Amino acid sequence: MFIVNNKVIISGTAGFIGFHLANKLLHAGYEVIGVDSLNDAYDVKLKSLRIGELKNNEKYEFHQLDLSNPDSISQLHEINSDAQVFYHMAARAGVRQSFLDPYSYVLDNTVATTNVANYCKLTEISSLILASTSSIYGDSGESLMRENKDERIQPPSVYASTKLSGEILAKTILDESNTKVLIPRFFTVYGPYGRPDMSILRFIHWIINKEEVQVFGDGEQRRSFTYVDDVVSALVKVMSHTSSDTFNIGSNNTVTLNRVIELIEKSTGINSIVVNKERAMKDPDVVKPDLSHIKQTLDWEPTTLIEDGIEKTVEWYLENLELLKSLTYIKK
Ligand SMILES: NC(=O)c1ccc[n+]([C@@H]2O[C@H](COP(=O)([O-])OP(=O)(O)OC[C@H]3O[C@@H](n4cnc5c(N)ncnc54)[C@H](O)[C@@H]3O)[C@@H](O)[C@H]2O)c1
Repeated sequence: MFIVNNKVIISGTAGFIGFHLANKLLHAGYEVIGVDSLNDAYDVKLKSLRIGELKNNEKYEFHQLDLSNPDSISQLHEINSDAQVFYHMAARAGVRQSFLDPYSYVLDNTVATTNVANYCKLTEISSLILASTSSIYGDSGESLMRENKDERIQPPSVYASTKLSGEILAKTILDESNTKVLIPRFFTVYGPYGRPDMSILRFIHWIINKEEVQVFGDGEQRRSFTYVDDVVSALVKVMSHTSSDTFNIGSNNTVTLNRVIELIEKSTGINSIVVNKERAMKDPDVVKPDLSHIKQTLDWEPTTLIEDGIEKTVEWYLENLELLKSLTYIKK
């Protein structure tokens, strides 16, 4: 292990994955410097809930910072210059919204990642772990999505383009520097504290509150739903990898949206009222990862069954019913 202190920076710490990662590392004894702009891409109440929980740990400190601002490089420097690892989880996520508001996606994904890479170069931090996405692959059709097909990638959305350009810029800026660039590409992540703009939490909310369940298309799209604890265990393993690399982090067992709805019905004991809507642009039919690289290199594979993951997410929703009922679940 190359780590010389146990301090990490996590951007996007008020977000879904950044929150879970911070929690895991704090419990493992790390000091976590959390950074987030607390933007309003979805309800800030959920971000406050996550930050409130993290602040219970004395090894956690939080800084509200917009990483798309060029001053953020010097601000980060003032906050810290001796962390060993920078987990850059901050981003503006979501495919549909990215076509409506492309400029914000360029700022929060491409520009912010450029600033983070420059900060890493300046401080000679050991590793930049940069969250990316399966969205850059488009539709996988019959074949599995593999990491080393970058040269053929044509990102199908503004979101995917800004994430891929972030990857490329970070690799270019840090080429021949002392900082490794490790790129986890997540497939659809779900679980407690999840995002209200993503399908599983929306479906749970609508079913529990006996509202119409809006499904884009016929619901037969297959997705690689990956439970957040599995994603976090992969992210911890990625930290110890000794050279720059890219890893798919997903699940081999793809599931349709209709099956997810069935499992939520089973878990809640409530029948859904499904309304099928027009399919969104460039929404792929099948998203299926090739996980052989991460399995061989880091000995990681997901272990949570979708049945169990949905059960835990429903339980969390019910425990936080009042707050979660009050969130907005779909942007008009
Ligand atoms: N959740 C998924 O299924 C999924 C799938 C693929 C990739 N990803 C990637 O994983 C990462 C985390 O996703 P998430 O689901 O936790 O999203 P999230 O929206 O819950 O968290 C992202 C956080 O980043 C913050 N942020 C955005 N712009 C910022 C800026 N300029 N400066 C500082 N903070 C900023 C937001 O306020 C938010 O709290 C993102 O990079 C996303 O692209 C997520």
